[in-house]
Amino acid sequence: MKIIDLRSDTITQPTDEMIEAIVNAHKEGRFGDDVIGEDEVVNELQEKASKILGKEAALLVTSGTQGNLISLFAQTKRGDEVVVEERSHTFMFEGGSMASIGGLYPKPVKGERGYILPKTLESVISPDDAHYARTSLVVCENTHNYAGGTVTRPNQVKALADVAHDNGLKVHCDGARLFNAAVALNIPASKLVENVDSVQICLSKGLSAPIGSIIAGTEEFIHESHRTRKKLGGGMRQAGIIAAPGIIALEKMVDRLNEDHENAKLLYNGIKGIPNLVVEEPETNILFLGLQNLSISQMKLAEELAKENIKVYGGYGVRTRMVLNRMVDREDIDRVISALERLLK
Ligand SMILES: Cc1ncc(COP(=O)(O)O)c(C=O)c1O
Repeated sequence: MKIIDLRSDTITQPTDEMIEAIVNAHKEGRFGDDVIGEDEVVNELQEKASKILGKEAALLVTSGTQGNLISLFAQTKRGDEVVVEERSHTFMFEGGSMASIGGLYPKPVKGERGYILPKTLESVISPDDAHYARTSLVVCENTHNYAGGTVTRPNQVKALADVAHDNGLKVHCDGARLFNAAVALNIPASKLVENVDSVQICLSKGLSAPIGSIIAGTEEFIHESHRTRKKLGGGMRQAGIIAAPGIIALEKMVDRLNEDHENAKLLYNGIKGIPNLVVEEPETNILFLGLQNLSISQMKLAEELAKENIKVYGGYGVRTRMVLNRMVDREDIDRVISALERLLK
């Protein structure tokens, strides 16, 4: 029986075309030492990404976590305060790296479906007084993973960025799934980041590339980020091996994210009637199943689904995440629905 893996969109395998792109670039002799800017494929990817994101320049980094970290370090000083949504990835799931590595002080605030309201930001910016850490940056996550793949609209980003900029703060967008938001709204990704100072996008989530993220912003930001990437051990040599699939990801894999969104809706429609299950209609490819009113734990549900070759993360909470991705098709959704109907009733 096929294994249906709903743990994350990071489990997507590279496409044949991605592997062929690596081989072709190798045959054409296009790889070089990227630490000194000599890998043609990396340069092509960075140029393409900066155009797509509407920014002056872009840089290939090893992962989303590294991209976020570099973006924060390049725009703050040690000891500064960074405003984050309380369930954001940068705050919850990056090993506390902004504090432990960068000496940054995270100030978590409550958002609405993952979005920090401008008035919330305004109310937490510290005064220019030596008693306080200097508030110098705000992170917005789009789509917002833990809020359930929720989408922040361009006007919302602008409203937040206006407050930030009026108060001398920079804005970083954790756009690990920015293209999911763009596809859901049917707008270019650049529209979602035109008011932010820096953005990080993941090539290795729904876009299916095996490795890598991109950060983008001004030439000056990327110049500084290049230095920071080296310090963090992220300078890579023949990194075109990573960039070649990344180019395919940006050229060919964006529009198909719609299929993941449709599958998420199919799954939602199939399970929303299960008594006492708490589930919100997904905007993109992520669904959270709230088990708080049911007698099954998250861990037990994961164990039972595993017996049916359906993978989800177990844990000690009451919310089970399901992430639709390219490796899961419509037929698989039917199997997941009937398994959940049986296990949750
Ligand atoms: C919203 C968000 N930001 C950042 C990351 C970090 O990406 P990576 O796993 O490549 O470090 C993730 C990973 O799941 C994510 O969901």
